[in-house]
Amino acid sequence: MKKWTYFVLLAMLVYACAQEDAFSPLDENLTDRLERLAPNGSLEDFVLPSSGDFAKIPQGKGNPLTREKVNLGKMLFFETGLGRDARHATGMGTFSCGTCHIPSSGFMPGRTQGIADGGAGYGDNGEMRDAISEYAENELDVQGARPISLVNVAYVTNSTWSGKFGAGYVNADTKAVWGEDDPSTEINKLGYDGLESQNVEGLKIHRMVIDDYVLDTLGYRNYFDQAFSAWPQEERYSLLAASFAISAYIRTIVSDQAPFQKWLRGDLEAISDREKRGAILFFGKAGCYRCHKSASLNSMEFQALGVRDLYESGVAYNTGPDDLRNLGRGGFTGKTEDMYKFKVPGLYNMADSPFYFHGSSRHSLRSVVEYFNKGIPENTNVPPAQISAFFHPLNLTDEEMDDLTEFLSKSLRDPNLERYMPERVLSGNCFPNNDPASRHDLGCN
Ligand code: HEC
Ligand code: HEC
Repeated sequence: MKKWTYFVLLAMLVYACAQEDAFSPLDENLTDRLERLAPNGSLEDFVLPSSGDFAKIPQGKGNPLTREKVNLGKMLFFETGLGRDARHATGMGTFSCGTCHIPSSGFMPGRTQGIADGGAGYGDNGEMRDAISEYAENELDVQGARPISLVNVAYVTNSTWSGKFGAGYVNADTKAVWGEDDPSTEINKLGYDGLESQNVEGLKIHRMVIDDYVLDTLGYRNYFDQAFSAWPQEERYSLLAASFAISAYIRTIVSDQAPFQKWLRGDLEAISDREKRGAILFFGKAGCYRCHKSASLNSMEFQALGVRDLYESGVAYNTGPDDLRNLGRGGFTGKTEDMYKFKVPGLYNMADSPFYFHGSSRHSLRSVVEYFNKGIPENTNVPPAQISAFFHPLNLTDEEMDDLTEFLSKSLRDPNLERYMPERVLSGNCFPNNDPASRHDLGCN
């Protein structure tokens, strides 16, 4: 053989070894685990679509994603000009959906509880917001549970912690209670999915209106015409149309730029060895995947972990021991077996707002991990028989808990959720908030 042939062979061997090195035992272990857990046996099952790939994003019944709807919904979501059903003049036009679902806070409120009408202030990520003195406590727009993140909400078929919105899926056999104790669930009778149903009620509950001022003075009529050209005129400028547009938009809020997503797509360097060890625990010894199992790491299951309710935080308004929300799924269905069970939420971008569980009872991801590791319920109102059999001591070491925390806080964090904010809203108002203190904090003045 010629000398150069040896050289080529040697070069090929070195190249092959380098490839082997790139795929480390940790990558191999994690890949094996994920392939075993994946419904179709492939890493693809955990890959999220990109936000522009409408064909791959789960869509609502009767509400296919279109560019026009998403563009309209993206503005309406942040349009403080809709908030004109405020309880007092000071609140008029000062809040939006984005007040309680802030992009830089992982589409959560950045504080224990969301406050829209009746609140003021923003800080860096919502943490400085508080009630204003003109409003009595029962006049505030607040709820008895922490707002749920909207990151990857397309994977939610029945929305809220109790899953009460949406006609099908897990609600298929709940027709008897729609509109009974809770008038807001009457909307399920229209037959739509969770988001499309909920956001009709959400617009009303959060004191927003679609009227001639919004359509003609602010100029949204044109946008409704483009997004809903197939709808008859008398249905086109409705809360239902606004809900469809907003639902289409929030379905495109996908965390596909998170490092773990990059790793799944083949970039083995996107996450550190420590994060890989954390992922192996998540999908293995720590048992997190038993409940957090979809591509967005949510599931449409309801489980009781016995965490404290929001009224026990000591800083939440207008909620208490009798709040129906404390009962979770049971507060909606009325069934004993559903009591104190809450929907399994998605886990991307949890690092962006340090208030965890429906009652905001934990303030760091490390402390969430410690709660699961101890496996001892903290809410004495929850009967032990309701607690999930998967919630038990895990015997993780300190280092394992560090690794798991690293996976949650780094690998699952999409660093660029700002791409889901509009450049402007048609009113030209400050957003997501428009009260004087927020305008100052947001640099709108
Ligand atoms: C005052 C704060 C507040 C405002 C304003 C607000 N939300 Fe929420 N949002 C919440 C709370 C609290 C929950 C959880 C409610 C529950 O589970 O009972 C929630 C839950 C949701 C969910 C369910 C997510 C899931 O995974 O189940 C969606 C969707 C949603 N909000 C969309 C919106 C839209 C759209 C708007 C504007 C029309 C809006 N929200 C305005 C507080 C708010
Ligand atoms: C038995 C099912 C189950 C298992 C196992 C489980 N979770 Fe959860 N997880 C839930 C439910 C249900 C909630 C919401 C509970 C509530 O707020 O009442 C939740 C909430 C969370 C939250 C807070 C989300 C939010 O929006 O505040 C994090 C973070 C989390 N889980 C991480 C983990 C990790 C890490 C593991 C593994 C150690 C794990 N989970 C295991 C069911 C489970």
